[in-house]
Amino acid sequence: AGSLGAAAAQSGRYFGTAVAASKLGNSTYSTVLDREFNMVTAENEMKWDTVEPSRGSFNFGPGDQIMSHTQAHGQRMRGHTLVWHSQLPGWVSSIGDAGTLRSVMDNHITQTMSHYKGKIYAWDVVNEAFADGGSGAHRSSVFQNVLGDGFIEEAFRTARTADPAAKLCYNDYNIENWSDAKTQGVYRMVRDFKSRGVPIDCVGFQSHFSSSGPPASFQTTLSNFAALGVDVQITELDIAQAPATAYANTVQACLNVARCTGITVWGIRDSDSWRTGENPLLFDNNGNSKAAYSSVLSTL
Ligand code: XIL
Repeated sequence: AGSLGAAAAQSGRYFGTAVAASKLGNSTYSTVLDREFNMVTAENEMKWDTVEPSRGSFNFGPGDQIMSHTQAHGQRMRGHTLVWHSQLPGWVSSIGDAGTLRSVMDNHITQTMSHYKGKIYAWDVVNEAFADGGSGAHRSSVFQNVLGDGFIEEAFRTARTADPAAKLCYNDYNIENWSDAKTQGVYRMVRDFKSRGVPIDCVGFQSHFSSSGPPASFQTTLSNFAALGVDVQITELDIAQAPATAYANTVQACLNVARCTGITVWGIRDSDSWRTGENPLLFDNNGNSKAAYSSVLSTL
């Protein structure tokens, strides 16, 4: 196959990228986007600070720009993200009353998902709720601190009602290594949700890797989560210096797991990456493919 998207489709998977609405008018950018990718995640445009900058006042303009581009080019979209401690407006993080915060969170989920109803393949309903390090517990956030452990379940239940056709994902970073306490904490949550019928369909592994690439246990992690009865996806892949072998190993881990349904890289050209100076992507600043691109394409 001649593109990442077509190559991934040979095994029923997708290959996606993060997109910034402000770059869609750049022809180098949009040419590579539309040639190579069949799934899109809005890099920032569907986050809370953009979508609901003040209470009850919704701005879907930038997200809609990306959505219309994808609809015109036959690409699907992941929704990113509904409940996250970061890129969260101050009016939310300063709420101290549980009843108020619960209705604000549920309303944000409902309004956002209703706006895009039927048009989103999967939503990252909750992003990065677990702490780094050895605790295996939730991180501190206004949601955790005011609503308690149950906020994640509440978010997923609300999301299912808002758009029953969208897959509902939990998304996080540093959960790729099976033996890490953070990985185990997320695993226990997913196992608990599945056993109690809390709606969850997928787990996103951000996969922001150092130049050494994925941990040796990455495929084991993907398959252990999949065995709980959820799909898994690589959602924000970038690897410092983009070593071809590290990229191939990452892609191969997904291909080896039947329920790993797709891979998304976090940007197109190195100059589009949030990891400034690390050149972690598949295309150089001119939009030319790098060695890692050929490696990914031939692995798919
Ligand atoms: C990053 C974007 O790439 C940047 O443009 C923005 O300034 C900060 O957020 N985990 C996530 C993504 O889930 O939303 C983050 O994206 C990268 C880390």
